[in-house]
Amino acid sequence: MKKVIAIYPGSFDPPTNGHLDLIERGSKIFDELIVAVLRNPEKNPLFSLEERSEMLESLTTQFRNVRVDTFVGLTVEYAAKVKAGAVLRGIRAISDYEYELQMALMNRRLRPDIETVFMMANEAYSFISSRLVKQVFSLGGNIAGLVPTSVEARLTNRLPKLNSH
Ligand code: PNS
Repeated sequence: MKKVIAIYPGSFDPPTNGHLDLIERGSKIFDELIVAVLRNPEKNPLFSLEERSEMLESLTTQFRNVRVDTFVGLTVEYAAKVKAGAVLRGIRAISDYEYELQMALMNRRLRPDIETVFMMANEAYSFISSRLVKQVFSLGGNIAGLVPTSVEARLTNRLPKLNSH
């Protein structure tokens, strides 16, 4: 039988429990799931591409069919390169829908053979975003339970940079 490979692209700056929940559920429905970390020259990330990949790698070791990779350029071109038939994205709320629909339709236009598959985020994590986690943490708020403890530790080390943003 044909193996279905999916990519889960994103910035992951930093990875949150919402991302991990999607990775876990995605790993159950695809034969192979590649977490694809975007090198985006336009954005000024808090964590380098290497740090984001390292964090994701250590957080996903328990999933035998999940691996982490990095990419530049178009998501669908990367998907085609690794022979993925699907792009996995999470939808947290209606507000995500418009942006995700736009991306999915653009990606379909670019590569009609690659399907975007949406999974609903776990309701417990539906309000979490990397951006809000960084903001709340930099202002002294409690982010326990929103990101893995290893990510929280990295954020603590990065606090001076966070506050200078
Ligand atoms: O975690 P994010 O920042 O919501 O992920 C956005 C991402 C990486 C999926 C999106 O920005 C993307 O696909 N970027 C790569 C460039 C690309 O393919 N653009 C066309 C998509 S419409």
